[in-house]
Amino acid sequence: MHEPIPEPDIFRAVSHSRTTLTELMIPSYANFGGKIHGGILLSLMDKVAYACAAKHAGNYCVTVTVDGVNFLQPVEVGELVSLMASVNYVGHTSLLVGIKVIAENVKSGFVKHTNTSYFTMVAKGEDDKPTKVPGLLLESAEDARRFLEALQRKEIKARSEREFKEIKTNLELRQNISALVGQRCQLGFAL
Ligand SMILES: CC(C)(COP(=O)(O)OP(=O)(O)OC[C@H]1O[C@@H](n2cnc3c(N)ncnc32)[C@H](O)[C@@H]1OP(=O)(O)O)[C@@H](O)C(=O)NCCC(=O)NCCS
Repeated sequence: MHEPIPEPDIFRAVSHSRTTLTELMIPSYANFGGKIHGGILLSLMDKVAYACAAKHAGNYCVTVTVDGVNFLQPVEVGELVSLMASVNYVGHTSLLVGIKVIAENVKSGFVKHTNTSYFTMVAKGEDDKPTKVPGLLLESAEDARRFLEALQRKEIKARSEREFKEIKTNLELRQNISALVGQRCQLGFAL
């Protein structure tokens, strides 16, 4: 019997799935301090990440991990938030979507960069199992730089997760208790 012939690789350009979502920040999005809830922004980021990943994959996608979410500046009611997403990297079934979030004061036109975050998404087939995504056609030096950056990020994250797992497994309270000296905590139990 003959081996099945592998399907030829399909490549899709970064520009094919580049997506921008823009939304006006209304009063019901605000927290008790009058600023926009972080959860509202996270939900918008998840939406744009989905749209961008699904466009590239041509399939339904799920969110697996979220990295780099730091809300550096508060977003105010009345500001126009734009979330710009593009596929930075693809693996076999996973994609890394980079999202830049900006908020514009519609009256003054002042624009601030609130954060850049990275969503790892996985494409799923009809059987609900991870399915292969098209390769990425890098159309510019910037696309290539982002792909390389994503590779480095993936490697650093895997290394850091391995190291932290080892630290957690071997963490001995008595041996490490001196590290609490100078920290803002008190022992409320006898060791
Ligand atoms: C994501 C999910 C499909 C992974 O399933 P799995 O059986 O572990 O699949 P695999 O081991 O084949 O991994 C699939 C891909 O996900 C990637 N992946 C899995 N866990 C990951 C993690 N923690 N971080 C980054 N990538 C991860 C793998 O590297 C692989 O990528 P590749 O094919 O490009 O190499 C599965 O865990 C799932 O469905 N999770 C729920 C997702 C969801 O519902 N999200 C909505 C929020 S509630």
